[in-house]
Amino acid sequence: MFRNTLSHITKRGYAAGREQLLPKKYGGRYTVTLIPGDGIGKEVTDSVVQIFEAENVPVDWESVELSALEENHEGVQKAVESLKRNKVGLKGIWHTPADQTGHGSLNVAFRKQLDIFANVALFKSFPGVKTKLQDVDLVIIRENTEGEYSGLEHESVPGVVESLKIMTKAKSERIARFAFDFALKNNRKAVCAVHKANIMKLGDGLFRNTVSEIGAKEYPEVNVSSIIVDNASMQAVAKPHQFDVLVTPNLYGSILGNIGAALIGGPGLVPGANFGREYAVFEPGCRHVGLDIKGQDVANPTAMILSSTLMLRHLGLNEYADRISRATYETIAEGKRTTKDIGGTATTTEFTNAVIDKLATL
Ligand SMILES: *[C@@H]1O[C@H](CO)[C@@H](O)[C@H](O)[C@H]1NC(C)=O
Ligand SMILES: *[C@@H]1O[C@H](CO)[C@@H](O)[C@H](O)[C@H]1NC(C)=O
Repeated sequence: MFRNTLSHITKRGYAAGREQLLPKKYGGRYTVTLIPGDGIGKEVTDSVVQIFEAENVPVDWESVELSALEENHEGVQKAVESLKRNKVGLKGIWHTPADQTGHGSLNVAFRKQLDIFANVALFKSFPGVKTKLQDVDLVIIRENTEGEYSGLEHESVPGVVESLKIMTKAKSERIARFAFDFALKNNRKAVCAVHKANIMKLGDGLFRNTVSEIGAKEYPEVNVSSIIVDNASMQAVAKPHQFDVLVTPNLYGSILGNIGAALIGGPGLVPGANFGREYAVFEPGCRHVGLDIKGQDVANPTAMILSSTLMLRHLGLNEYADRISRATYETIAEGKRTTKDIGGTATTTEFTNAVIDKLATL
């Protein structure tokens, strides 16, 4: 029955794990950086803290409470330094204002500084959550550090803006290898590169060709294909079952990830993680900050709870991960104490308590 948990997806560890330095354990315990972020971040990370406490998970938190509403890029240094010490973090989302005068994204600055280049988001239908299509199960692996998010924009003359999208062979190769390694380790069969190479022939062409080459040369066991991003969006809405692992440049991953969230019941259900060679940061896969529902005790903490179970697997604490993900899935499947976004009436606190009660019965 619990093949629907995330356990089988990640049991063998992530691709980056091969090279990654695991954090030091002291007295059998790990210290992990906790970054609640803005919006609903505090509420949903509190939920994880409570669940870990109830389960006696051997993790100590080093909390970095930093709001993008008050801080700028220098403020992010605190979070970066904590991550460098601990190597592993659990993170909410910092708000990024959409106006032109505000600072750029702290999230992007943070990921770039730590070079956590690969974002993984898991889109898997939940038993008990009503959606138009059932049994969706796809993974989006998104390049985190370049592409449209290079942050290089300038107004060359008044009324003319140049916004640079940087694509490199080296970074396309490493995200391609990450995607294929991920597919192999997690028993997935096909990797599809998403691009717009018919229009952006050089940049997106480089990305698509690099993924194809690496696939053909180094990973003959995995099927490799490619799809134009607009078609990918239509196909994802109409026939998502054809996709297994999608590998994308930065912006397309963000957009397709939001389609994926809609397919399975909303952003509150999408766990995710970011990996580099040295650091791993676990954060909801669909990066919604939730400023509009902040502090109302209505947010769905599932995405954060399941992201924390991915973190536990990364740390080798698989039994804790299995129990917590199973309790979360069972609580949702029963549907008695679920949050408003998926049709329930429970608060964040009530749902968290329901998961803790469920854990006591497992
Ligand atoms: C790989 O692709 C080929 C050709 O499109 C197809 O016949 C085969 O079933 C695919 N294999 C897997 C494991 O998806
Ligand atoms: C769109 O994708 C489907 C497969 O997902 C493919 O069969 C079709 O040819 C594609 N259409 C275009 C215009 O690329």
